[in-house]
Amino acid sequence: MTAVEEALREGLRARGRDWAAPIEHHRRLVSTSDRLKERARDGAPEWTVVLADEQTGGRGRQGRPWASPPGGLYLSVLLRPRFEAVGLLPLAAGEWGVAAELKWPNDALAGGRKVAGILAEASSSASRLDWVVLGLGVNLEAGEGLPAEVRETATSIRTLTGARVEPRVAACAVLTHLAFWYDALRAEPAAIVRAWNERALPWWGRHVELRSGGQVMRGIAERIDPGGALVLRREDGSRTVVLSGEVSAVRLEP
Ligand code: BTN
Repeated sequence: MTAVEEALREGLRARGRDWAAPIEHHRRLVSTSDRLKERARDGAPEWTVVLADEQTGGRGRQGRPWASPPGGLYLSVLLRPRFEAVGLLPLAAGEWGVAAELKWPNDALAGGRKVAGILAEASSSASRLDWVVLGLGVNLEAGEGLPAEVRETATSIRTLTGARVEPRVAACAVLTHLAFWYDALRAEPAAIVRAWNERALPWWGRHVELRSGGQVMRGIAERIDPGGALVLRREDGSRTVVLSGEVSAVRLEP
């Protein structure tokens, strides 16, 4: 076991979580999620964790790259859910203890800038969900290592709080929150939806553009429904319920 793996286990134990599953730390990887997907296919147990100090091919949602210079948190965790409310999993993962506004489906924003993101990837066979790899990226440090275009839309924990947070400390916080919300999801899925509707409050009643499966729709974001989908009120008063996509606020012409 490397020193980082040991420190992580110790940190998790101190937070009341004995991590039975493997934890794999790398100095550099193409993508922690790619590595963990390989391990998932090889039968790795639930809660296996892969983290890296930097990624050379970090991936974001919608095929976007995720800039991953040293100093940030790049972590993927393997889940093998066997319960109904699995559609809410990305929302549960968003509840990870960063005091930020949440943007559906799972962005953490502060002052409109992105501080963290989650990529959920799943594999199923014969209508049974086999595994889910949740990839979590948190901008811990101010943006020097980030490309200019990302710097304009991103912020970091350091910028927001002035605190320098070590990636392994952030990893412990993220994993313990995730484990907590995963349990909550199993026990009371409605609590996740309630928490989301509160944390994403600034979005409700706002005119948004939603890109989903090659379609672009406009409307007013109303709320998250019990299944984790976004409810959009269209111009003609009808409602569309969307399970996945990208939302952005639109400014209406005066
Ligand atoms: C997003 O677009 O908001 C999701 C970003 C997810 C980035 C994380 S970093 C760790 C894991 N490995 C990856 O390649 N991507 C995810």
